Amino acid sequence: MTEVEDEIITLPVDERYHTAIESYKKAYKESLEQPETFWSREAGIIDWFKKWDKVLDDSNPPFFRWFVNGKLNASYNAVDRHVLGGKRNKVAYIWVAENGDEKIVSYDGLYYRVNNFAKALLDMGIKRGDRIILYMPMILEAPVAMLAAARIGATFSFVFAGFGASALAERINDSQATLVVTADGSFRAGKIVKLKEIVDEALTMSSTVKTVVVVKRTGIDAPMQEGRDVWWDDVIGHGSNYVKPEEMDANDPLYILYTSGTTGKPKGVVHSTGGYSVWIANTLKWAFNPGDDDRWWCAADIGWVTGHSYIVFAPLFLGLTSILYEGAITYPAPDRLWEIIEKYRVNMLYTSPTAIRTLMRYGTKYPKMHDLSTLKVLGTVGEPINPAAWKWYFENIGDSKTPIIDTYWQTETGGFVISPSNGLGLPPLKPGSATFPVPGIDPTILDESGKEVKTGQKGFLVFKKPWPGMFMTLNNDPERYKEVYFKKYGMYYTGDYAVNDHDGYFWLLGRADEVLKVSGHRLGTIEIEDALISSNEVAESAVFGRPHEVKGDAIIAFVVLKEGEGGDGDIVSKLRNHVRETLGPIYTPDEIHIVGALPKTRSGKIMRRVVRAVFLNQVPGDISTLENSASVDEIKSAIELVKRETSL
Ligand code: WTA
Repeated sequence: MTEVEDEIITLPVDERYHTAIESYKKAYKESLEQPETFWSREAGIIDWFKKWDKVLDDSNPPFFRWFVNGKLNASYNAVDRHVLGGKRNKVAYIWVAENGDEKIVSYDGLYYRVNNFAKALLDMGIKRGDRIILYMPMILEAPVAMLAAARIGATFSFVFAGFGASALAERINDSQATLVVTADGSFRAGKIVKLKEIVDEALTMSSTVKTVVVVKRTGIDAPMQEGRDVWWDDVIGHGSNYVKPEEMDANDPLYILYTSGTTGKPKGVVHSTGGYSVWIANTLKWAFNPGDDDRWWCAADIGWVTGHSYIVFAPLFLGLTSILYEGAITYPAPDRLWEIIEKYRVNMLYTSPTAIRTLMRYGTKYPKMHDLSTLKVLGTVGEPINPAAWKWYFENIGDSKTPIIDTYWQTETGGFVISPSNGLGLPPLKPGSATFPVPGIDPTILDESGKEVKTGQKGFLVFKKPWPGMFMTLNNDPERYKEVYFKKYGMYYTGDYAVNDHDGYFWLLGRADEVLKVSGHRLGTIEIEDALISSNEVAESAVFGRPHEVKGDAIIAFVVLKEGEGGDGDIVSKLRNHVRETLGPIYTPDEIHIVGALPKTRSGKIMRRVVRAVFLNQVPGDISTLENSASVDEIKSAIELVKRETSL
């Protein structure tokens, strides 16, 4: 039995913000038993140019197609319909710069900018079906660029601006993008990151890009290459450049978002236009129940899926007012988040457990400095939240009144999949549990052999049915899509451990594969190993995570140096810098241990799990579970080797 806490917190039902559990149960049941009826109704949350012929085509699993032959445009749903439908003057974004400057943009203002940039893209030769890369900070031009691409039917791929040059180049190459939108630099915790320079370096490793559009954000010197690089302000028209939104098919891609998996090569998750839009708009409504007058703040970065779905598309589809904050949450002081909530009278805050744990360390002094009484609902995402952080958030930020909406989901799922459905019926909450599946999700927990585990037993989380927000495939790699997600169980495998308690609550217990969650960022251990090996000094490496009380996982690397390397004392910082520059600062290992040898299987695979188990002092009784492809004797000598090398 996996230990899970069993405290139940029942909040009084407040009709304005959350409703009784019965309506959730009814909706959930209907979603699984009568999906046609259910989704035909719920898809009405989006405006369609042409209605679909069929809700779901499942004739070619696992390539599911939702809302077959339906036609729509995501940018139309985000801006045009509000401008036409009475919300022209409503605020779409309150943008807060790191230095405290603000810009307030109405739906009409956003519509104007999106049309103008769409026109600029067309003028630069970008057309329907082309791919473009967005490598941008948290500025208004980021959602504008996403929506402009969607408007003309170009597929965008946003690359988180914390990634380094090689990581960016890899994504440009895989997507075959012909245009990049970036900025001269970005502000981060008082410093400037020179984004344009990173783009220039990435472009030396790729050849498809013809145009680079640069937003002037920081004013630093950005070398511009004649014939390739143009300033945003010079290409964006300033007239009334209406661009008719393309009629996209429900199953045309909206975007590709790269995410880490169990190999060195990131996976290009492809999201659809129709199913994805229906999913994220509904899940935001179900989980948070935002009202028309509410102010919503998803404090993630636009470059990750959380920002795509819940800063850009879903809140705009619902016509909400969002905060868009440029900077770091602890800059210039640890009350930054609370200050913004007070100043803008924010009603809903959605952030990560790492952010909560970071702010928790500074104590209650900082939240106490501000009036947080406008908050009605709080949310978390990205990693399991430990009960202590949950309670701190609930008590000190939510004044023990606001529900905590712990949303479990993934880049691949498009939107929330397990989460309290505050808008349909709030269940009693258990600190640390994401509670129940949202409508349309049919989860189960299986053991290695595919049998359902007993209540209270840890196993692998899988979803038995497709849902509208699920990704369509992996870019350039449909085989990997089948292999990674569907081969093991014949249904969608999440890659996460979970347990279901005696009340039916789901508890997420972390990744079951070689993927780390560092400060909520999803990183592949093998990407880091590859980056280490790409330095001149390293021959072999094994990277794994060690539980870290604030950021979830800390990155631990074991490396074997090449013959004759390592003479100079600073090899560890040299390697850390190398990883930072190649993949980006978020990938920097916390610890690098230089060893003489690493254990390998007969086929030459490094036994990462053995190294990790010895390092964490967690060698299990049944050591065969450490490495499928090795014999018990091999594993025993591997353990001995690691112990010897590290004197553990
Ligand atoms: C983890 C982020 C526990 C999980 C939206 C998943 C969570 C991975 C939660 C996806 C949560 C996300 N509780 N674990 N509420 N939310 N995860 O693709 O391991 O960056 O598989 O998407 O984050 O990370 P991704």
